Amino acid sequence: MIPPMLPDQFSTARLIFAPIVAEDAPLIFEAYARDSEVSRYMTWRPHTALAETEAYVASALAGPSCSYLLRDRGDGRLHGAFELRQPAAHRLGYGYLLARPSWGLGLMSEALTAVVDWALDQPGIRRIGDVCDVENLGSARVMEKAGLTREALLRLWAVHPNISDEPRDCFSYVKTR
Ligand SMILES: CC(C)(COP(=O)(O)OP(=O)(O)OC[C@H]1O[C@@H](n2cnc3c(N)ncnc32)[C@H](O)[C@@H]1OP(=O)(O)O)[C@@H](O)C(=O)NCCC(=O)NCCS
Repeated sequence: MIPPMLPDQFSTARLIFAPIVAEDAPLIFEAYARDSEVSRYMTWRPHTALAETEAYVASALAGPSCSYLLRDRGDGRLHGAFELRQPAAHRLGYGYLLARPSWGLGLMSEALTAVVDWALDQPGIRRIGDVCDVENLGSARVMEKAGLTREALLRLWAVHPNISDEPRDCFSYVKTR
């Protein structure tokens, strides 16, 4: 299911959500795809060649998710990425990351808050939320700051291969209306 697109020019105080395009691959590779700290709690391994990032961008463009780059509203520099998913008609999920120089500035709390507020204003959308590794304290806190509530501890929910090949426990966060 393809999620509702964010409005054109969707932005926050400091960020613009720009739909991803094929030409973004080299920048993404340089900025964060090859960084093992960024990918630590992700389901993918750090990229070692640009071709891997190009393949990722191609799959993002093929859907069914909507993928955006987060660019600086001032100078346009790349901060990170945000993906919106719609697993069922009434609910949205997401994924997000920032390049390391953009950590700790409150940017993802700002981005997620805007998306959550927009999402729960869309007709038919009753729920938005997603999961993070139990050790990903930064991501858990981002979701709390965006007004989501921890609803569950999901045992052995996802494999995060940069930590272990074993499935790992995750927290589920949600906001409903
Ligand atoms: C997780 C991530 C998106 C956080 O984004 P961010 O913009 O740096 O987070 P913010 O600056 O909005 O900080 C949000 C809160 O989390 C806290 N926080 C951030 N990183 C933290 C960490 N590593 N450990 C503990 N708390 C952390 C901040 O202190 C802040 O809380 P506070 O305002 O109560 O002090 C960013 O670190 C990142 O991109 N990580 C790699 C990719 C990733 O893990 N994505 C999520 C997968 S589920």
